[in-house]
Parts: sequence; C-alpha cells; structure tokens
Amino acid sequence: MPKVTFKGGALLNPVPAVLITSKKDDFVNVFTAAWVGTICTKPPMVSVSIRPERLSYEMIKSTGQFTINLTSSKLVRVLDFCGVRSGRDVDKIKKFGLSLDEGIEVDVPSIGECPVALECRVKEIIPLGSHDMFIAEVVQVKVEERLVDSNGKIHFDKAGLVCYSHGEYFPLAESAIGKFGYSVQKNKNKGRIK
Ligand SMILES: Cc1cc2nc3c(=O)[nH]c(=O)nc-3n(C[C@H](O)[C@H](O)[C@H](O)COP(=O)(O)O)c2cc1C
Repeated sequence: MPKVTFKGGALLNPVPAVLITSKKDDFVNVFTAAWVGTICTKPPMVSVSIRPERLSYEMIKSTGQFTINLTSSKLVRVLDFCGVRSGRDVDKIKKFGLSLDEGIEVDVPSIGECPVALECRVKEIIPLGSHDMFIAEVVQVKVEERLVDSNGKIHFDKAGLVCYSHGEYFPLAESAIGKFGYSVQKNKNKGRIK
C-alpha cells in the first residue's frame, strides 16, 4: 500500500491514558500520563516518562513511589483535566471529589473511582530529553471486586477502560476480536470470541 512519510515522531498509537497519584507531606496529587508502558513481566516492571517541570515529577522523584490508576470512560473528563492543570495551582483530588483508598505497599493512595490500581516503586530514572523515564516495579495490584470472578480471573473487558490515540480518548470495545494464541490453535474457531 502507498504510504506518506514523516520524520521520526512519538506516534506509537494507541497508548494507555492513566491517572498517576503521588503523595508528599500529606498532599496527594494526580496527573495524566500516556507515555506509560509495561517493560518486564518478572519482576513486573513499568515505565512512565515524565517532564521535569511537572509537580508530579518532583513528588515522585523525592518519594520514589507512585500509583498508576487505570481509567474508565466515566472518568474521561477527570483524565483530561488532570493532564492540563497542575497540582501547583489546583487540588485536583478535591476539585472532583475523588475518593482515596490507602496504599498497601506504598504510601500513596489510589483513586477509589478507578477500577484498577498498580502500586509502584521507582528503581531507576533515565533522562531521555524532554522526558525522564521512571522505571518502576509494580509491588501491589488492586482490582475492583466486581471485575474478579470466583477463579481469580480479572475481567478487564468489564472495566470500561479508555486509551489515547493521537490527541483523543477512545473507549475500548467491550468484546475482543481474538485472544492470545488463537491463531495457532488446532481448531481455528477455538478461542475466537464472537
Ligand atoms: C492525555 C495526556 C497525556 C499526558 N501524558 C503525559 C506524560 O506521559 N508525561 C508527562 O510528563 N506529562 C503528560 N501529560 C501532561 C501532564 O499530565 C500535565 O502537564 C499535568 O498538568 C501535570 O500535572 P502536575 O504538575 O500536577 O504533575 C499528559 C497530558 C494529557 C492530557
């Protein structure tokens, strides 16, 4: 297929859009991040790239802790606001009346309204240019009860998560179009989700 070419750019799409909480001196802040990724399974590690001018950068760098809150469509306005206003100017948690669940392994609360929270401990900070990459271990995961079935399986499909693509927020489709490994299963229809 014919293609139009562009110079190199941060165009990996779609990406997660999450709310990241941090806490310092009893102040809890939250900001939106999209430059976020899973980078290792064992130990479970993530990366978050943060510009040094963010309040969250200062807070996370000094405490070495943060929590990633996965966000549902219901919270998309909060998600956007927390990405365009700094905690230096507004208490974003108070503005939206968000509830906070105490941290378990880190001294950072998670957002009660978010379906999933990943508590993270920073291992390394790598300056890259506009952003510094925080590499962190996920030390605890909290999932809303209704998303976990009696076998302990997490049903992310019921979480109503959003992603971010080229400046816009999108809801994830509720049903999958395939599942891990289905393409090589003996019966080609096995694992295909209708
Ligand atoms: C969709 C979206 C994604 C963003 N992703 C990032 C990111 O990955 N890293 C970053 O440093 N800032 C990111 N920002 C900008 C920060 O969220 C924004 O500057 C925020 O106001 C910082 O808040 P703070 O000063 O309270 O930490 C993003 C903003 C939006 C709207």
